[in-house]
Amino acid sequence: METTATSTATSTAAAEARSRELEERIAADPGAFRILTGDRPTGPLHLGHYFGTLANRVRLQRAGVELFVLVADYQVLTDRDVADRLSEYVEGLVADYLAAGIDPSAATVFRHSAVPALNQLMLPFLSLVSVPELSRNPTVKDEIASSRQSSVSGLMFTYPVHQAADILFCKANLVPVGKDQLPHQEITRTIARRFNERYAPVFPVPDALLSAAPSLLGMDGQKMSKSRGNAIALSAGPDETARLIRRAVTDTDRHIAYAPETRPQVSNLVLLAALCQGRDPHAVAAEIGDGGGAALKKVVTDSVNEFLRPIRARRAELVADRTYLRGVLDEGNERANAVADRTLAEVRAAMES
Ligand code: TRP
Repeated sequence: METTATSTATSTAAAEARSRELEERIAADPGAFRILTGDRPTGPLHLGHYFGTLANRVRLQRAGVELFVLVADYQVLTDRDVADRLSEYVEGLVADYLAAGIDPSAATVFRHSAVPALNQLMLPFLSLVSVPELSRNPTVKDEIASSRQSSVSGLMFTYPVHQAADILFCKANLVPVGKDQLPHQEITRTIARRFNERYAPVFPVPDALLSAAPSLLGMDGQKMSKSRGNAIALSAGPDETARLIRRAVTDTDRHIAYAPETRPQVSNLVLLAALCQGRDPHAVAAEIGDGGGAALKKVVTDSVNEFLRPIRARRAELVADRTYLRGVLDEGNERANAVADRTLAEVRAAMES
């Protein structure tokens, strides 16, 4: 529908403008911000995650912003009936975070299932949104359309409210997100505002921070995702990386150029090499020149493997020390519980007075 598309484009443009303004405020006063972000433990993180969000989190943490990172284990069940290999994926996610550079002594890394008071916030929050508001959420609609379930569960329908609890329990005021998460962010803001108006001013109204990073496609030219088998995991070995890149689709024009509109697949490979080299994609393409797809793939493979080498080495060390990984999570859970208990007490007091 044209009106929906137009209003989505308008709100994305507004969020982009707002994000630029926020970046300036963060640079001036990083201590005024607390970030909450998270991922569902459904498999290892890949390069799309790295350049899309992980690198941004690490950058903001190094700039002095406080970070809460959620392993969203209760959210795994939104689009599937069973949470497979959960403890393996939870530990793997923590390893990915730390290997990518998140500093656990300054960040709180925790999981849903270990923080009861966070989940309890979902009850009052559900009372603050209407069923039509939940039904309108375009991201949930898309996810329902591609869900593995035969019918929509109540959890799928209401998970943006759960996500509001994720963000508001620690009074985060900044949420780095991709565009698809903007509708959820709007629900969080609505819930915070309504709670404050109806009861007492307990919550900040958190801002979405859109990442400036261009999004990467998978090796088959579709969205990079673990379930499509087209993603290069941070934990993948050099041989697996080479194999995935060898399979990537290119085109018949031997001249390599960066032209995302007309040559999306070739440009995606150029972009991947450029991100790994920390260079401009046009310069990377110019260097390959008339070398064709084979030369391009060699450059991409070498760049990715070079870039991931230290991350993989750190990750391997971390995975070998499960006691340490569990300790990081235990400590994060403990900190998150203290914060969540305090917030829940405030919420109760506000609702009873
Ligand atoms: N929905 C996010 C994802 O699938 C994960 C998530 C859960 C999240 N709670 C959050 C992200 C709160 C940001 C804020 O990747």
